[in-house]
Amino acid sequence: MKDLTPPKDILDPIEIASRDEITALQEQRMAWSLRHAYDNSPFFKANFDKHGAHPDDFKTLADLAKFPFTMKQDLRDTYPFGMFAMPQDQVARVHASSGTTGKPTVVGYTQNDISNWADCVARSIRASGGRKGDICHISYGYGLFTGGLGAHYGAERLGCTVVPVSGGMTERQVTLIQDFKPQIIMVTPSYMLAILDEFRRQGIDPRESSLNVGIFGAEPWTNSMRGEIEQAFDMHAVDIYGLSEIMGPGVANECVETKDGLHVWEDHFYPEIIDPATGEVLPDGEMGELVFTTLTKEALPMVRYRTRDLTRILPGTARSMRRIEKITGRSDDMIILRGVNVFPTQIEEQILKCAGLAPHFQIELISKGRMDAMVVHVECTADMSSSDARDATARELAHHIKSVVGITAAITVHDPNGVARSEGKAKRVVDNRTG
Ligand code: DLL
Repeated sequence: MKDLTPPKDILDPIEIASRDEITALQEQRMAWSLRHAYDNSPFFKANFDKHGAHPDDFKTLADLAKFPFTMKQDLRDTYPFGMFAMPQDQVARVHASSGTTGKPTVVGYTQNDISNWADCVARSIRASGGRKGDICHISYGYGLFTGGLGAHYGAERLGCTVVPVSGGMTERQVTLIQDFKPQIIMVTPSYMLAILDEFRRQGIDPRESSLNVGIFGAEPWTNSMRGEIEQAFDMHAVDIYGLSEIMGPGVANECVETKDGLHVWEDHFYPEIIDPATGEVLPDGEMGELVFTTLTKEALPMVRYRTRDLTRILPGTARSMRRIEKITGRSDDMIILRGVNVFPTQIEEQILKCAGLAPHFQIELISKGRMDAMVVHVECTADMSSSDARDATARELAHHIKSVVGITAAITVHDPNGVARSEGKAKRVVDNRTG
């Protein structure tokens, strides 16, 4: 793989500023953001008042703990534009999360917000190893989802040639990669695997493709999956994180030279980790729920938004800005099976240990008598035809899951292509429990 480390002189100065400079900027911007939210969003005024908090109470970053949290439900309750802090004619764009139940959550951006967002994504692509002049193939979905347009504006801002493919039509994705020869691809890791299959189906060696770096996010993926994709394509696989409520992609990103967690772009987003049960702020290094406050957002400022994502804050390495550990699960995705907490990524890791299994999987929860049970649906690779070999692999996977994760799972090994493919975020868990 190519060394894509960006030279220091092309970074934004704040990326490598001293901690004191970063803190000073955060305090100044935080004071503005709390004031802006309070003065211009009836929701935030009411919420601050209810909790006896006032923007004047903010003097240093430690004072943030006095302010109330914001939850996804608050966005639902104020659907569609009730939380906005700018008049609608100043809102240049809205996005929305699909939301599996009920109404979607709607978020808004002023022109300044869109410009800051483009800066953050441009910085993320550069940290991933992308450069001005590169061709950037974008397979995140375009539309209300923030992935496609968020990546698009960032890649343009960096000075890339953007190929706005969006998700789907996998055969054409491969054709375009072969013909346009992009250095960069931005896509969910699960859809990258579908693209990988399509390379192989067409008899094209993915290692011969032009791709140098993949910028993967929007869903949890493991370091084992990173290894799998890097090996298959002979390219760097770098993690990008974000959420619509805070902005979209580009809230935090790994650096290609270290791949040791994601640097939070702390000049725009202030991270905290809390104990999800008590709401207490935890010190850096401790595991808990990630909470963000926006520092520059105009249309929809967010104060202490509870992401439900579980991680810890770590000190900066390749940049001065602090990192979050790779997010392997959110509290909503956690399966509790007979008292044991399981995240789909833990199952992913075990599958990737088994030679003969493809990296596609889905977890089905079923009722077995009065008990809940887990069935892991996996696929064998094309070269594993005998049923004896499949049975042995199923036993191997069940053994790994039992000994590492601590649960008993039934394994169903399907033919190649037997597990549903995603074109965006993968649906990892299907709940067919009857109880
Ligand atoms: O998924 C924004 C995005 C688009 C991020 C493209 C990266 C790339 P939402 O649809 O609002 O926004 O979903 C946000 O997705 O709270 C996490 O649970 C999960 N998520 C996003 N990035 C990662 C990641 C976009 N790198 C929710 N690792 C977040 C793990 C991720 N989970």
